[in-house]
Amino acid sequence: MNSYLRTITKEDPYKLCFVCLGNICRSPTAEGLFIHKVKEAGLESFFYIDSAGTAAYHVGEGANSKSQATANQHGVHLPSRARKFEYPDLEEFDLILAMDFQNFTDLLEMDKKEKFRGKISMMRNFDPIEKGNVPDPYYGGLQGFENVFQILDRSTEALLNELKPHIKE
Ligand code: 4NP
Repeated sequence: MNSYLRTITKEDPYKLCFVCLGNICRSPTAEGLFIHKVKEAGLESFFYIDSAGTAAYHVGEGANSKSQATANQHGVHLPSRARKFEYPDLEEFDLILAMDFQNFTDLLEMDKKEKFRGKISMMRNFDPIEKGNVPDPYYGGLQGFENVFQILDRSTEALLNELKPHIKE
């Protein structure tokens, strides 16, 4: 069994943190999608869902307007406020999902004592179509944001499906 998996109960909700660079485009989209799917499934009391950035450039900001517009078109709300991922988050969360390999490397570097390796994963390890990076859409056009949404839609769906059997009602 993967080391990040455990029995999930209402008393001990499963804690996920989605991580990218700025915490305004990719990780807020993943967070909003996962919240949306969990609510649709009526499972909100079993999860604690958050996102953060490896950089502090945008701390306090809401999700990027193009990320929000794209998500809203699909009926998904992005509630995040940008914050920086800090060392205690490594302890706090059950699963930490890096959007790209640079984010992944930055998280592993923070984990100098290698205590938390088993809970740090690339988001697209859950993508049923293609592994690798969730491409940074920040400097591109709307099509890039839609592409990110589609990648994260199927990746978060597969992630939730992997966690569901561990829920004990
Ligand atoms: P994110 O996108 O990591 O998906 O939130 C970015 C947001 C801001 C910057 C880069 C990427 N930036 O350089 O400010």
